[in-house]
Amino acid sequence: MSISRPFSSAIQTNRVLGLTDNIVRTTLIVGNWKMNKTASEAATFICTVVPKLPAPPTIEIVVAPPFIALESVRTALGASTSVQLGAQNLFWESHGAYTGEVSAPMLKELGCRYVIIGHSERRTLFGEQDEEVRKKIRSALTHHLKPILCIGESLSQREQGQTDEVLRRQLTGGLTGLSDKDMAAVAVAYEPVWAIGTGKAATSEQAVAAHRTIRAFLADTWSADLAEATRILYGGSVTPHNVSGLLQSDQIDGALIGGACLEVESFATICCLAESIGACG
Ligand code: 13P
Repeated sequence: MSISRPFSSAIQTNRVLGLTDNIVRTTLIVGNWKMNKTASEAATFICTVVPKLPAPPTIEIVVAPPFIALESVRTALGASTSVQLGAQNLFWESHGAYTGEVSAPMLKELGCRYVIIGHSERRTLFGEQDEEVRKKIRSALTHHLKPILCIGESLSQREQGQTDEVLRRQLTGGLTGLSDKDMAAVAVAYEPVWAIGTGKAATSEQAVAAHRTIRAFLADTWSADLAEATRILYGGSVTPHNVSGLLQSDQIDGALIGGACLEVESFATICCLAESIGACG
């Protein structure tokens, strides 16, 4: 029997508190726009894509545009939208002399609910270390943003059989010291570096194996209930063609999408496919 997917954060919280409701993990689809679209392009995109999305969705749909487009996307979405806003990064201090940085309270005020943290592009291109990832997650939680912690192995690490070790190390680095209550707001995204932007998505079997490793770590470090309640997304060359196969597994609770979230048709199709699976999963 697979785990049902319809969303209830109240039920998720109940699990963390040790209550006995059914465990639910709502499918979460996140579009990571990376450094694409100006503020006006972003608004146009939102106005075109939103009518094509499931409404109201039983899944959660999040768009994470560049910082400079958050305001225009929020305005384009309107007050009654079911599409949520996410950011791609933050800095852990709330204010001060940190030229070029953006803080959690700033993102919160712009309407963000989620923030992507520790993306492999941040780690490899900008030298982000686990210690910084941890501080960013703590700051997000302090300011009531839900962090999506990105982890994943490189091709050489996979080829050397180090995948599980890398995942556990990055989980330890990012999440050490968080309470059960903190963890209730955290999602993990498994994004193998070799699958990002390459067109070579992990197979369902590879993704499920990694997700099981992540869930086992969560169970060992916190509890079996916490592990069952935590959403684990897959990211890396997700497209309308492979998303259904990935989401069929009850281990894969959603997707973090790069390239395919930039086109109206492909993002809308992915969301509709996820909705149809989520509704009957
Ligand atoms: P692609 O979907 O373009 O492979 O990017 C994945 C990703 O990095 C999402 O965060």
